[in-house]
Amino acid sequence: MNDAPIGIYDSGLGGLTVWREVRRALPGESLVYLGDGKNCPYGSRPREEVARLAREAVGTLVDAGCKLVVVACNTATAAAIDSLREEFAPLPIVGMEPAVKPACLATRSGVVGVLATERSLDGDLFRRTAARYGSGIEVVTAPGRGFVELVESDREDTPEAERTVRSAVAEMLDRGADQIVLGCTHYPFLIPVLERVVAGRDVSIVDPSPAVARRVVQLLDEGGFRAAPGRKPSYVFCTFANEAYRRRLELKAFGTE
Ligand code: DGL
Repeated sequence: MNDAPIGIYDSGLGGLTVWREVRRALPGESLVYLGDGKNCPYGSRPREEVARLAREAVGTLVDAGCKLVVVACNTATAAAIDSLREEFAPLPIVGMEPAVKPACLATRSGVVGVLATERSLDGDLFRRTAARYGSGIEVVTAPGRGFVELVESDREDTPEAERTVRSAVAEMLDRGADQIVLGCTHYPFLIPVLERVVAGRDVSIVDPSPAVARRVVQLLDEGGFRAAPGRKPSYVFCTFANEAYRRRLELKAFGTE
């Protein structure tokens, strides 16, 4: 038994899509969410800079006493997961895996679309995963340009969001993609818009966050790290930005269930 919290980190609001799944899977666990906010978006920053920001963030969660940390950011995972695991060993750290594997297994058309930030798409993690599972399958990638900014400014439900999403997925749809993998944790907030854009086509949207939550459950069980049963969990939100942003994290977390 271990009553310490689980830490969940992202560049901003996006990791809340993972926070929701972890909370659903583990209702007895306390969670500390760190949404950087000050340096968001990460998606077009140099790899070394993202790695430095990720180190600082995970260090903050370690100082807060977290027993396990989820890097709920594909961009930070792609830039730094190996070095974070090395530096903070033996802390268990769960990263985001681009959900290319389930999409490649599920596709009927043989074409899989992947949306992610530029930094994630040009990283080794994505290239390795696509090469491992995508053989014989056409993987069409596109950066979700402007997606993170739309979510960070609460403009998910606007005509602008619909235009931005429509233009990002146009090519993959033209090429026949029947799976669209969301390779950035901000993107699930745009699922309602994405569903409108693909309406009438036989397209599935693949969000990896439930699988990440299952991995957290598995690691807690393997390590015997679960909180004592019957304990009331606490939910803490923190940021490198300011109090107004911290408050937004909290509101968005509870407002989207
Ligand atoms: N939510 C993050 C990801 O999963 C980062 C987005 C960004 O800051 O550009 O990649």
